[in-house]
Amino acid sequence: MDSELRELYQQVILDHNKSPRNFRKIEHPDHFAEGYNPLCGDRIDIYVKVENNIITDLSFQGSGCAISKASASLMSSMLKGKSEEEAKEIFNRFHDLVTGHDISAEEIEKLGKLAVLEGVKEFPARVKCASLAWHTLNSALNEDKNVVSTEE
Ligand code: FES
Repeated sequence: MDSELRELYQQVILDHNKSPRNFRKIEHPDHFAEGYNPLCGDRIDIYVKVENNIITDLSFQGSGCAISKASASLMSSMLKGKSEEEAKEIFNRFHDLVTGHDISAEEIEKLGKLAVLEGVKEFPARVKCASLAWHTLNSALNEDKNVVSTEE
């Protein structure tokens, strides 16, 4: 990571860790899932409201490291107003980014601030932190009733 990107990465993580967006419970969500990272014991709950196939509200609660919290916070901000299909597409794009798959500059651009999390691809344990909220969201949208684990 070059120094400019590293600085941006730190700023974004610090900001979202200190003031996480949408860190709250939604009463009567349309979708809900619990995520678990057995490597560290951190847990996250994801709540989603959907109207006419559009995500109208998305929130999270739980305990986690700065990267997992920042990733959940960025995810919740980015996906509000998107359709469920768009959210799943963004999930796939983000997953490719943090797991080191080839992804075009144009696609990285579309990820906005989320793109700073690309740096975690060098650190497998950190990839789990960054993707915990996303796997949990995916499971919530797919109505999977089991707790999602980063180790499966
Ligand atoms: Fe637990 Fe990052 S250390 S999610």
